[in-house]
Amino acid sequence: MFQIRIDGSPAYECAADDTLLRAGLRSGLGLPYECNSGSCGACKVELLAGRVESNWPQAPGLTERDRAKKRILACQSRPVADCVLNVRLRDDYRPHHRPRRFHATLISSRDLTYDMREFAFRTEGAPGFLPGQYALFTLPGVAGLRAYSMSNVDDGSGIWEFQVRRVPGGAGTAVLFDRLAAGSRVELDGPYGLAYLRTDSPRDLLCIGGGSGLSAVLSVVRGAVREPALTQRQIHFFYGVRGPRDLCGEDLLAALPGYGARIHFTPAISMPELDTDGSWRGKIGFVHDVVHEAFGDRLSEFEIYFAGPPAMARAVQAMLAEKRVPQRQIHFDSFY
Ligand SMILES: Cc1cc2nc3c(=O)[nH]c(=O)nc-3n(C[C@H](O)[C@H](O)[C@H](O)COP(=O)(O)OP(=O)(O)OC[C@H]3O[C@@H](n4cnc5c(N)ncnc54)[C@H](O)[C@@H]3O)c2cc1C
Ligand code: FES
Repeated sequence: MFQIRIDGSPAYECAADDTLLRAGLRSGLGLPYECNSGSCGACKVELLAGRVESNWPQAPGLTERDRAKKRILACQSRPVADCVLNVRLRDDYRPHHRPRRFHATLISSRDLTYDMREFAFRTEGAPGFLPGQYALFTLPGVAGLRAYSMSNVDDGSGIWEFQVRRVPGGAGTAVLFDRLAAGSRVELDGPYGLAYLRTDSPRDLLCIGGGSGLSAVLSVVRGAVREPALTQRQIHFFYGVRGPRDLCGEDLLAALPGYGARIHFTPAISMPELDTDGSWRGKIGFVHDVVHEAFGDRLSEFEIYFAGPPAMARAVQAMLAEKRVPQRQIHFDSFY
């Protein structure tokens, strides 16, 4: 165990095989982060003393300028000595459920589309999680961890469900889709993520998913439906995919109480040329444009949750910035 000290805070312990970020969160500290995967740069800290090794030295979240300034990615850095860090802790990053590493057994999986699959794991010794959070998977033979959002809610059963899109040539999804079978055990680490359901919001919910981003927003909707404080809220769910055969999830939403009354689902395809038999009757366009068309100047009236590929997340962010939606109403994960 190494001692990690942050100016003005109690020191915390970090195991040699843990990272500065995750060990800090396990200790209940509000260390800033977002993707936990080395890509966004939100977890940059300054290493004032000590030594670390990086799990992913080429991680795109760090620039040459950062390296010259002795900045490191806390989500990728393992200590090899006691360390002193310069970073501003924030209360809003303090975990509601302290993340833990635990084992999980795959109990079932089913195809949602030709390239999206739902996986259900029975966990052992897992903490609770909030709707919209994610877990990190250690997958056999895969370098680095992979983040996947839970699609269900924490009902005390210890079941964590995920919806994963196969990435052509991707190392992690190849293992998930082709090598894991019912009974396979993996190591999970979680929960993580700040894009969780806010139960104290007086606003209606606007949920936007793109492709593999279905999981996180579905969990938020499922959580909202169960939350007594949100019974008066309308829930608008926009889901953007490329073509009709990429679409899934409507049956899962339709199973929720209030579907069609307070839960409103709008699917959209961005590539109408994929509608080969001309049967598509829904919206056409990028999902942020479809949301803009629906709510335009009313966007700041909503509590907004979104998840999906980086290009979609950037487009939604730009739209919300243009409409001056306050940051505190915006909760998202970009799926690097
Ligand atoms: C917060 C978050 C939530 C996500 N939720 C979902 C979800 O619910 N469903 C879904 O389908 N996808 C989700 N993703 C995307 C997912 O984590 C993977 O990026 C995607 O499945 C591709 O994985 P792959 O291994 O098949 O592809 P690869 O191309 O092999 O790997 C892609 C990703 O793996 C990581 N990586 C690659 N090499 C290394 C390395 N050497 N060391 C460390 N990390 C490395 C990087 O993050 C990279 O972007 C999420 C991503 C994030 C950040
Ligand atoms: S949280 Fe470390 S790079 Fe995104």
